[in-house]
Amino acid sequence: MHRPDRVSLREVAPRDGLQNEPPVPTADKVRLIDALARTGLARIETVSFVHPGAVPQMADADEVWRSVERHPGIHYSALAPNLKGVHRALEAGFNAVEVVVSASDTHNRANVGRSTDDSLTELRDIVQLAHEHLAGVEAIIATSFGCPFEGDVDPARVAGIVDRAAEAGADRVAFGDTTGMATPRRVTDLLDAVETDLPMLMHFHDTRGTALANLLTAMDRGVTEFDASVGGLGGCPFAPGATGNVATEAVVHMLHDMGVETGVDLEALLEVAGLAQDIMGRELESGLLRAGPRTRLTQRP
Ligand code: COA
Ligand code: ZN
Repeated sequence: MHRPDRVSLREVAPRDGLQNEPPVPTADKVRLIDALARTGLARIETVSFVHPGAVPQMADADEVWRSVERHPGIHYSALAPNLKGVHRALEAGFNAVEVVVSASDTHNRANVGRSTDDSLTELRDIVQLAHEHLAGVEAIIATSFGCPFEGDVDPARVAGIVDRAAEAGADRVAFGDTTGMATPRRVTDLLDAVETDLPMLMHFHDTRGTALANLLTAMDRGVTEFDASVGGLGGCPFAPGATGNVATEAVVHMLHDMGVETGVDLEALLEVAGLAQDIMGRELESGLLRAGPRTRLTQRP
C-alpha cells in the first residue's frame, strides 16, 4: 500500500456535468467556473470543443472561456474529440487539452463516429499540433472499466491503448469509467495490466455506488490524480444509463477525514455545490450537500 498524503483533484462539472443536462446560460457557466476557482481546486476542465449539433450544451465554449476570470494558480483545460476540436481549443488559447478515445470500439463510434483505432491514429497529429503550441495533451481512455454496449473491457486492451497513446507522444493518460462499471477489483486488474511512466488520472462515475471505493483502491496503488464533479453532476450523452461523477465534496470530505490533503476548502466547495443546484434548478444527488460534513451538528429535537 502506498497511500499518498496528498491528492490532486480536477473539477469536471463545467464540462462532464453540464454536457448531460438541459443547456445552461453562458453566464451561469462562467459563474460556476469562477466560483470553483475560489475553492482551492488546482485544476478545472472548463469546456469541450465538440460538434455543436452533437452536444449543444457546449456550443458556447469559446464564449465561456473568453469570460472566465482565469486565476493564475489554476490549471484550466478543455476536452476535444478530434483534431478539429484541438485546433479550436488552441485557437481559444488553452494550453492543455484532454483528447477522448474510448477503449470500446462501439462506444467510440457512438461518441465520436469512428473506430478506436482511427482515433488513436489521429492522436499522433493532435499531439504534434498541440506541442507546436506548447500545449500538453492528456489521452482520456473512456470506457476503461467497461462499456454499456460491449460489457467488460479487457485490461490488456486498455494497456495496449496506453502504449499507443504514449507512442503518439501524449503527456498523460486518464482512465474514464464512463458509466460507473468499475469496482475495486476492476481497478486493481487495470493497474496490474498497465505499465507506463506517464502520469495517470482516474475518472469515476458513481452510477452503481462504487466510485469512492474505486478511488481509495486506486489511491492505495499510488494514483494521486482524480476527476470529480461538484454536486455529483455528470454523464455522457452517448452512453445509456450514464449518471453523475463522484461528487467533489464527497471526495474532499472523505480524504480530509483520513488526513489526505487536497488543498480544497470544503465549506467553500459546498457553497459552490449549492450554486450548482440553484443553476440546475433541481435537487442534486449529493449527500454532503443535503447533510453537510459529518462534523456539522444539527439542533437537538
Ligand atoms: N467541433 C466543431 N465542429 C466539428 C468538430 C469539432 N470538434 N469536428 C468536426 N466538426 C465539423 C466538421 O468541420 C464538419 O463540418 P462541415 O459539415 O461544416 O464540413 C462536420 O463537423 C462533420 O465532420 P466529421 O469529421 O465528419 O465529424 P462527425 O460528424 O463524424 O462528428 C465529432 C465527429 C467527434 C465531431 C462528433 O461526434 C462530436 O462532437 N462528438 C462529441 C462527443 C462528446 O462530446 N462526448 C461527450 C464527452 S466524452
Ligand atoms: Zn465522465
